[in-house]
Amino acid sequence: MARPLPVVRTVKDLRAQVVDWRKAGHSIALVPTMGALHEGHLSLIDLARRHAARTVVSIFVNPSQFGENEDLDSYPRDERRDCALIAGRRGDLVFAPAIGEMYGEGFATTVDVPALSAPLCGASRPGHFVGVATVVAKLLNQARPDYAVFGEKDYQQLLVIRRLASDLDIQTEILGAPIVREDDGLALSSRNQYLNERERALAPQFHKTLRTVAEQIATGSRTGQAANWGARVLSQSGFRVDYVDVCDGATLERITGRPGSRAAARVFGAVYLRQTRLIDNVPVDRA
Ligand code: PAF
Repeated sequence: MARPLPVVRTVKDLRAQVVDWRKAGHSIALVPTMGALHEGHLSLIDLARRHAARTVVSIFVNPSQFGENEDLDSYPRDERRDCALIAGRRGDLVFAPAIGEMYGEGFATTVDVPALSAPLCGASRPGHFVGVATVVAKLLNQARPDYAVFGEKDYQQLLVIRRLASDLDIQTEILGAPIVREDDGLALSSRNQYLNERERALAPQFHKTLRTVAEQIATGSRTGQAANWGARVLSQSGFRVDYVDVCDGATLERITGRPGSRAAARVFGAVYLRQTRLIDNVPVDRA
């Protein structure tokens, strides 16, 4: 049986625990989440534990990263289940603040990483990455961890966070963890639970198509042509396509023509099945 997991709800209590661990000479990793944990999140905890002696998992459904017509109210929440899963993976502490603890009266500061936030998901979710960057900057400052772990499914988010940590001289090493997929290729996401049976059966086609786009580019197709092909196939299969794009994996600048030998090209996609937004990305292997 997993041991009971301590849960703190205030920055003061979080810092007190972190100070105690530091005094005992322990290194600390933070895994920021919005709860609704799945095997992908648990793999972040595993990675955190390989780097640090103590792992804090934060659970906070951050309102400022949801747009007006997005799923803030319906976002799945089950803290008890999340805590049991974290305990099972030997996380050490949960930080689960209320909204008022994170955004006190008069809260007025935002963190913006404009160039990395503008393309891809940023284009259709205005303000999303400002919400993410602001809350992550706060979490990093609250926990002052040696490491913080984020999944590569949210690849754009990972780059935004790496940039902000570097620009704001935050002394936390940002670790990216590989995407965890179902056997049929669908990237794990808390939002997958919104999919009905028919949509769930269709969903793996998304990853499969992005992979084919990447293969086409690796074997000499022009990026624009391959991306347009992918978008067309997805929309003919029943997805509402937000974007399929080929970008430099470090700068997110769109790659036109054929990727040069130095650019680490990646294919990025976002689609909807009814209201459910799915995102994914795959690297273009160099020949
Ligand atoms: O990836 C997420 O779950 C969220 O965007 C994060 C990083 C926890 C910030 O709210």
